[in-house]
Amino acid sequence: MPESAVNNPLFARLFDRCFGKDKGRGEDALRRELLSGLSGRVVEVGPGNGINFEHYPATVEELVAVEPEPYLRGRAEETAQSVGLAVRVLDGTAAALPLPDDAADALVVAGVLCSVADPPAALAEFRRVLRPGGELRFYEHVRSRRPGFARYQDAVALVWPRVMGGCMPNRDTLAALERGGFRIERCRGFGFPADARAYPVVPRVLGVARAG
Ligand SMILES: C[S@@+](CC[C@H](N)C(=O)[O-])C[C@H]1O[C@@H](n2cnc3c(N)ncnc32)[C@H](O)[C@@H]1O
Repeated sequence: MPESAVNNPLFARLFDRCFGKDKGRGEDALRRELLSGLSGRVVEVGPGNGINFEHYPATVEELVAVEPEPYLRGRAEETAQSVGLAVRVLDGTAAALPLPDDAADALVVAGVLCSVADPPAALAEFRRVLRPGGELRFYEHVRSRRPGFARYQDAVALVWPRVMGGCMPNRDTLAALERGGFRIERCRGFGFPADARAYPVVPRVLGVARAG
């Protein structure tokens, strides 16, 4: 059964104060790359405190941001007031988006597919809400292709989700996208932060997928 609510008060505050900030390491450039060229009506799932909002291009006519965690939803609403973009912040989960079929020209996720309880249900919901030909933009941390590091991620996964809002450091998200009916159109893999060694969420992918 899809999750109907997300409530992680401690993680939400930790995220807002520590991770949900540009720390001058270049992640703002990654976020701009994620969102570059978007237009029309865009749905962002799991925006957290709205860290991406300032990076949307002016060609986006409306941004609908669906955030289930109450504290982060409040922070996203505050952020929405301070950007020159029409943003509607809604309650909902990835597997139950409060939107009609074919509502979005594009859907955006950043650091979210690691945390959803049921990735196949979320991806089916993304396909429902995307219009035919619409694109899924993703920036996610993933399972390492290096077997030793992947085993380390598996070990960390025994405790990490308990303190990080359900985040699994070891998900093979590209395989999940393909199994979920998405074709990866563009993707690049890299480590971020580049100088981190033992951080379990360093392997990242950023790209575009389409249903089909
Ligand atoms: C690590 S934060 C990432 C926030 C932001 N997208 C970013 O780029 O930094 C994970 C986000 O996913 C949200 N989330 C967790 N489970 C979710 C679900 N089932 N559906 C939608 N969002 C979810 C969390 O509330 C949180 O806002």
